[in-house]
Amino acid sequence: MDIVNRLLNWVVPPTSLVILAFAWPALSFVSACEWLYNAFYPEDIDDKVVVITGASSGIGEQIAYEYAKRRANLVLVARREFRLKGIAENARRLGARHVLTVAADVVREDDCKRFINEAVNLFGRIDHLVNTASLGHTFYFEEVTDTSVFPLLMDINFWGNVYPTYVALPYLHETRGKIVVNASVENWLPLPRMSLYSAAKAALVNFYETMRFELKEEVGITIATHGWIGAEMTRGKFMLEEGAEMQWKEEREVHVTGGPVEEFAKLIVSGACRGEPYVKYPSWYDVFLLYRVFAPKVLRWTFRLLLATHGARRASLVGTGRPLAIMEGNGRHPSITEGNGRPLLLEGQSPRKLFGSPSHASPSSSQRME
Ligand SMILES: NC(=O)c1ccc[n+]([C@@H]2O[C@H](COP(=O)([O-])OP(=O)(O)OC[C@H]3O[C@@H](n4cnc5c(N)ncnc54)[C@H](OP(=O)(O)O)[C@@H]3O)[C@@H](O)[C@H]2O)c1
Repeated sequence: MDIVNRLLNWVVPPTSLVILAFAWPALSFVSACEWLYNAFYPEDIDDKVVVITGASSGIGEQIAYEYAKRRANLVLVARREFRLKGIAENARRLGARHVLTVAADVVREDDCKRFINEAVNLFGRIDHLVNTASLGHTFYFEEVTDTSVFPLLMDINFWGNVYPTYVALPYLHETRGKIVVNASVENWLPLPRMSLYSAAKAALVNFYETMRFELKEEVGITIATHGWIGAEMTRGKFMLEEGAEMQWKEEREVHVTGGPVEEFAKLIVSGACRGEPYVKYPSWYDVFLLYRVFAPKVLRWTFRLLLATHGARRASLVGTGRPLAIMEGNGRHPSITEGNGRPLLLEGQSPRKLFGSPSHASPSSSQRME
């Protein structure tokens, strides 16, 4: 290492910490003033045009309702059009001025051009783009048997945000609009069995942080980072290593209402209207940032401890509201089933092990996949 860097290693960290300590009160004061001003004068969304991807369930659906209550014009995008129709009806009842639904795949650039063009043709402008489309997974990286899932997960979780943003940006510049991004706390607090998801979310945050510089505040960016808050993703919509999206069909038809999802959607929309750079829920996760920087081993030990017991895995099913029964599987991994004996995929359990075991009375694949 050259002498200059050696010297800087000694000088820069303590000097920066001292400067930060002195600047902290002034910075906090400026932030508080900004926050107060934005809280009193948030953006009025009435009659503005909001495009929401991933609006057919979970957080995206609730975000649509929040904008509807603020009397926005909505463009709801997802692949399941029948779900969008029902959500559009609800949004109209809640106060949305007009609602356009577009069945589209955000991974396809042409589809993104199509829904953005349809939005502009109908409403003449775009004020907010809310990116919510996503897909999680719960398998260990080494368990993957088909590597084609790698790009698929990155496509949905990363490129599925980048394409709509790219296509919408010229219109967002015209309105000095906003982009809302649904990242996850896993962008900096990675959990086991979510390697590709966490990587995509980290890429997403870095992408939009770079965009903040490039867009020079002409287009605002609000990044939402949250932990598990209970939507489809927590209700069983995950990816198998074979590459298909896994879900219990009836779970996908469930409308999630109440509780943290609604609350979080409200936080996101009001945060975006106030021009906040980040919306965090819950914010106490931030304390683990200190552990990540100064004591990363503690985080690793904690995860190992938590994931070492089956009890922790079972706890992840609490909240599905379904009758559960424990059924002994192959003797090594007891499996959890619904009352009817149908196996449930646990958060954090290998789908291959669960579905591959001949001792389980598992349903045919057409019952499980769409
Ligand atoms: N729920 C949580 O606890 C949690 C925690 C941390 C972060 N997040 C983040 O919050 C966001 C929303 O999560 P959620 O729980 O609400 O998930 P969700 O209910 O599974 O919703 C995902 C949405 O994305 C859509 N989608 C998926 N692939 C798509 C594609 N290729 N093209 C178009 N639409 C697509 C789905 O609709 P179709 O299937 O109809 O296309 C669905 O509307 C995600 O970005 C997620 O990473 C959630």
